[in-house]
Amino acid sequence: MDAVTPQARIGVLASGRGSNLAALLQRRASIAANFVCVVSNKDAPALDIGRQAGLHAQWVPAVKGEPREEHESRICEVLDAHGVDFVVLAGYMRILSESFIARYDGRLVNIHPSLLPAFPGLHPHEDALARGVKLAGATVHFVTPGPVDGGPIIAQSAVPVYASDTAETLAARVLSAEHELYASALSRIFSGDLRLQGELVVESSSAPAD
Ligand code: GRF
Repeated sequence: MDAVTPQARIGVLASGRGSNLAALLQRRASIAANFVCVVSNKDAPALDIGRQAGLHAQWVPAVKGEPREEHESRICEVLDAHGVDFVVLAGYMRILSESFIARYDGRLVNIHPSLLPAFPGLHPHEDALARGVKLAGATVHFVTPGPVDGGPIIAQSAVPVYASDTAETLAARVLSAEHELYASALSRIFSGDLRLQGELVVESSSAPAD
């Protein structure tokens, strides 16, 4: 019998419609890891998407006024109960504490709808149009302490910006790119093709820096 390779167990955090989660689940055969649960701070459509795909799906609401870490510790209880060792953010709309980020050091990724480091934050499409860029896109990155959307870049995908674009039309074009990009980035991580080297993500075949 072949040796069984233990696979990473992925927990997804999502706050909204869950189109990236759906795209990942559709492509999960290409990712050498197991998607085991989805957790949301909202009673969000992403939970139904996860549930319908056979994942444990749980709403973990934040309590008004409680420290961020208390909410996160309830999330971690769910992740731990499902043996999660890698966390994928898919439209998770709460800033994570440094202690959560440290807990999943090198095992926490996010997708952002801009070509980082340009246009981090909440309004990347409006910001891109305001600057007149001719290319927009999406970035998958590791989440590290420090500025939001500032971690090592894993993969990017560019789309054109047209003169007729509104934030909505641009967002829709970027979102289609996100759906392909996230699965391909995770596929490369779990195939061992990419690794984190200091501040950079490099191909595993590349020589270590001097
Ligand atoms: C996506 O644009 C993602 O890049 C951003 O939040 C949005 C989530 O959309 N972080 P969805 O919930 O995956 O449809």
